[in-house]
Amino acid sequence: MDIFEKNDKRTHYCGTLTKENIGNRVTVLGWAQKQRDLGSLIFIDLRDRTGIVQLAFDENTEKSIFDKAFTVRAEFVLMAKGVVRERATKNKNIPTGDIEIVVDEFKILNKAQTPPFEITDGGDVKAELRMKHRYLDLRRPEMQKNIIARSKITNLTRNYFSENGFIDVETPNLIRPTPEGARDYLVPSRVHKGNFYALPQSPQIYKQLLMYSGFDRYIQIARCFRDEDLRADRQPEFTQIDMEISFTDEEEIMTINEGFLAYIFKNFMGKELKTPFPRMTWHEAMERYGSDKPDVRFGFELNNISDIVENSEFKVFSGAVANGGSVRAINVKGGAKFSRKEIDSLTEKAKHYHAKGLAWLKNSNGEISSSYAKFLTEAENNAIVERLGVESGDLVLVVADKNKVVFDTLGALRCECAKRLGLCDPFDFKFLWVTEFPLFEYIEEDGRFYAMHHPFTQPMVEDYQYIDTDPGRVRARAYDIVLNGTELGGGSIRINTTEMQEHMFSVLGISKDDANEKFGFLLEAFKYGVPPHGGLAFGLDRLVTLLLGLEDIRDVIAFPKAQNASEIMSKCPSFANPDDLKELGIALISEE
Ligand code: AMO
Ligand code: AMP
Repeated sequence: MDIFEKNDKRTHYCGTLTKENIGNRVTVLGWAQKQRDLGSLIFIDLRDRTGIVQLAFDENTEKSIFDKAFTVRAEFVLMAKGVVRERATKNKNIPTGDIEIVVDEFKILNKAQTPPFEITDGGDVKAELRMKHRYLDLRRPEMQKNIIARSKITNLTRNYFSENGFIDVETPNLIRPTPEGARDYLVPSRVHKGNFYALPQSPQIYKQLLMYSGFDRYIQIARCFRDEDLRADRQPEFTQIDMEISFTDEEEIMTINEGFLAYIFKNFMGKELKTPFPRMTWHEAMERYGSDKPDVRFGFELNNISDIVENSEFKVFSGAVANGGSVRAINVKGGAKFSRKEIDSLTEKAKHYHAKGLAWLKNSNGEISSSYAKFLTEAENNAIVERLGVESGDLVLVVADKNKVVFDTLGALRCECAKRLGLCDPFDFKFLWVTEFPLFEYIEEDGRFYAMHHPFTQPMVEDYQYIDTDPGRVRARAYDIVLNGTELGGGSIRINTTEMQEHMFSVLGISKDDANEKFGFLLEAFKYGVPPHGGLAFGLDRLVTLLLGLEDIRDVIAFPKAQNASEIMSKCPSFANPDDLKELGIALISEE
C-alpha cells in the first residue's frame, strides 16, 4: 500500500474533466470501478462522487506503474496523476467519455475485498444486503445523487427561512412526551431512577414556548422520533422543517410556505411553481376523493349513490345505508381493460381496508358485465350508470359500508387504479392545501375523542360553541399541505389562552390533575402574555423523496431503519448490558 502525501491532493473531481482539460496535468482520487487488462494496455475506471474518468496505462507507462495497475481490483482506493488526452475510442454514455488520463504517477492507497454486490445502479440486489453494507450502497451514483440533493434542499431551506427573518433555534431531544399521537421512544434516566425522558415526536411545545419568548419567527430542521408502524413514507426517526410565527393567521402561514416551495422549485429544479396552491376543505376532500390527502393528478372522484339504492332489494347496498353508512362509487375511465384477475386483486385490496366486498360494472365497447347489476332493478342500474357518466371503456367500482370504510377503500382504489393505468407521473407536481380539518377524531374502540392534529390547535371561531355539545362537528384552524397524494406537511393556529387550552384538555378526557402534571408548565406560561401564533412542519424526507420522483423515503436517508425498525448494518436495537440496566434501575420482564 502507498502512503497518501500532501501533494497527492486532488486537482479535479473525476466526473468534472472534459475536453477543456486536454493537455492539463491533473491529480484524481477515488475508487476503481473496474480494471480492464488488454495485454499491452490497461484501463481503470476511477470513480468519485461526481462520476467516472478513465485512467490509461500503455507501452509508454513506466513499468512499475504498469505492474501496479495490473493488480488493481474493483473498489481499490487510488491516486493517479497524469495528463488529460483525447480518447481514441469515445464513450458516449458518460460525460467524461471524450477523454482519458495518461497516468504517470500512481498510488494504491488501499485494497478492497470483492464487494458483496457491484457498485452500480439497478441490479437485482436484495434490499437487506444493501442495508447490511449501507456504506457500499451509498457509493452507488444514484444514492450519491439523492443524498447530495438532500443536502442542497436542506441548505436552500435554511437560506429561504433566514432571508425571511426566521431564527434557527435548537430544541432539546430529551424531553417530556409531546402529544402528536404516536407512541413515544423513552430514554431512562440514570440520575432519576424510574423516570424517563421521551424523544420528541416533534418540537411542538418548545416552538410554541419560543413564540411566548418573543422570537417571533422560528425555524428548525429538527429530528423527530415516533414509534409507529413503518411504511414507505414513514421512519421512526425522521426530519421536519419546523416553523412557527407570532401574530399570524392561516393566510400568512400558507403564503410563506408556498413561497418556500416555490423557492426550492426554482433553485433546486429550475422550475417555476404556480402559487397560490388550490385549497380544499377536509369535508370536500373526503367527499370527492375519500382521503384527506387526495392525489389530484387524476379524476376517478367518488359519487354518493346512496339515494339511488337506499330502498333496493339488494341488501348489501340498502343495508349499508340503513345502518348509517353509504354506498359510493368511482368511475375508473379506461379501467374496463382490467381482467377478472385484476379486478379480483382490487377486491383483495378493498378487503385490506375492511370492505366486505367490491361491486363492479364494466362497459367494454358497449357490452356491460357486472357483479351487482343482476341484483338491482333496471331503474336503479340506469340511475347509477347515468350518475357516473359511464361510457365505453369504463370500470365502475362500488363500496357499501360505514362511511369510514367506504372512504378508505375507494380513496385507496382510485390511486391503485390510476397507478395501474399509468396516470401517476411523479414529475407532475400537484400541490393542494387541505383546510378545515375536524378538531377531534372519535376512536370507536376507545370510545373517546382524540385531537386530530394535536391538542394545541384552535377550533374555528364559529364552531367553538359546539365544543361541549357536539365536539365531532367542530372544525379546527388546521391545514395540511398535500403533494400527489402524500401529506407533505401540516400545521395549525394554536390555542393561546388558559381557558381554551383547559377546555380542550377536558374534552379530550384529560383531567385537570393530569393536564397539570403533563402540561402544567405550558398552562403556567399562558399567564404571562402569550401572542397569537401558529405554524407548520414539513416532512423533509418526504419532500426530498417526492422532488426526486422517488417512492421510498429510505432512498433519501443515509442510514434508515428497516421495516421492523431495526438498523441491519449495526444490528440495532441490541441487548443492554445487565450492569447498565442495573445502574438505570431497570429490570427486564422475561418473555415466555
Ligand atoms: P405532523 O404530525 O403532521 O405535525 O408532522 C408533520 C410532517 O412530518 C412528516 N412526518 C413523517 N415523516 C416521516 N416519517 C414519519 N414517521 C413522519 N411523521 C410525520 C409528514 C408530516 O406532514 N408539530 C406538528 C406540526 C405543527 O403543528 O406545526 C407536527 O408534527 O410529512
Ligand atoms: P354477494 O351477494 O355476496 O354475492 O355479493 C354480490 C356482489 O356485491 C359481489 O360483487 C360482492 O363483491 C359485492 N359486495 C359484497 N359486499 C359489498 C360491499 N360491502 N360493498 C360493495 N360491494 C359488495
